[in-house]
Amino acid sequence: MFEKVVEAAADPILGLTEAFKKDERAEKINLGVGIYKNEDGQTPILETVKKAEARLLASETTKSYLSIEGNAAYGKAVQALLFGKDSDIVVNHRAFTAQAPGGTGALRTAADFAVKHLPSNKIWVSNPTWANHGNVFKTAGLEVVTYDYYNAETRDLDFAAMLASLETAQAGDLVLFHGCCHNPTGIDPTAEQWEILAKLCAVKGLLPLFDFAYQGFAKGVEEDAQGLRIFAQYNQELLIANSFSKNFGLYNERVGAVTLVAATTQVAEVAFSQVKSGIRANYSNPPAHGAAVVTEILNDPELYALWDKEVAEMRDRIQEMRTLFVQTLKDKGVQGDYSFIERQNGMFSFSGLTPEQVATLKDVHGIYIVGSGRISVAGMTKSNMDALCEGIAKVV
Ligand code: LMR
Repeated sequence: MFEKVVEAAADPILGLTEAFKKDERAEKINLGVGIYKNEDGQTPILETVKKAEARLLASETTKSYLSIEGNAAYGKAVQALLFGKDSDIVVNHRAFTAQAPGGTGALRTAADFAVKHLPSNKIWVSNPTWANHGNVFKTAGLEVVTYDYYNAETRDLDFAAMLASLETAQAGDLVLFHGCCHNPTGIDPTAEQWEILAKLCAVKGLLPLFDFAYQGFAKGVEEDAQGLRIFAQYNQELLIANSFSKNFGLYNERVGAVTLVAATTQVAEVAFSQVKSGIRANYSNPPAHGAAVVTEILNDPELYALWDKEVAEMRDRIQEMRTLFVQTLKDKGVQGDYSFIERQNGMFSFSGLTPEQVATLKDVHGIYIVGSGRISVAGMTKSNMDALCEGIAKVV
């Protein structure tokens, strides 16, 4: 039977890493997948994580199952990080959170819940969006449609077009927003724009689903929750899928969460029982370690302060690379104004390189970036910058 199976296309992001590993050229550069690298090109374990792990190793007494939704203390810590510990949602117990295997697992859990229990099976995603969004949602059974987002000429958010698209959405439709550091464009709405979007969703009865994978990588851990918190002021119901892969560097621990917010505790609790039922049918209950690490850090003021500092260091290094990238492109004689790269948030730069240029960069220069032209600035270092910009200078 298996010989009849048709081979799947390579994943647009993780497939690049596979190809990169097979590439034997010594000078190859991987700026595909969004993984933070330090100046030495390493993805180190955060000092805070090491400290929390040492404590857990000493204090852990069992490896027995967690409950379906996972560690309760983790759920509380996640909610405080998302909404603020004094927020109405937290104080009035309007949210329930389940641990999830990474942000992707959280998105899939939310999508499974939506398909089975919500009135509309349609989800609106930005054009462009993370290459895996459509895959996750379609596999769960949602119909995926796009709203306008990016203006390739101005290299900015096309807010009027975004609103015009969302005006055509029907009550009950889901709308996916990127909490901050929009992937792949790096362009986020302003506070005023978030407010307009939040009101639009409330008035039209759309259900916001936030994908929040980069908290702390735009302006700061608290600052980056602004869009979500504005939404919470106007919308009583929300779904949030968040990830700690990047801001805790816990990529391979697969640690994220899905949070459901409703108008009252009772409504939230009943709806959440179906989220749990979906999890039980999928992976039963979550792995413990990553969430225990995150809980230890978020609940200890000293570790929290150190973590906040480590996130700031990652954010600042990426910003420094943006500036150096723009400068080096200029030094290598690349024509045009690339200053927009310095205005983008998060790990990625949406470069505007065409699929052909991207292919030449890979084939001829050993430089790997995503087909959409998305470059992981988080993988740039002072040592690979020259080769990168020389390669770009040759293809543009
Ligand atoms: C990315 O966009 O590169 C990351 O979110 C990693 C992934 O799973 O695609």
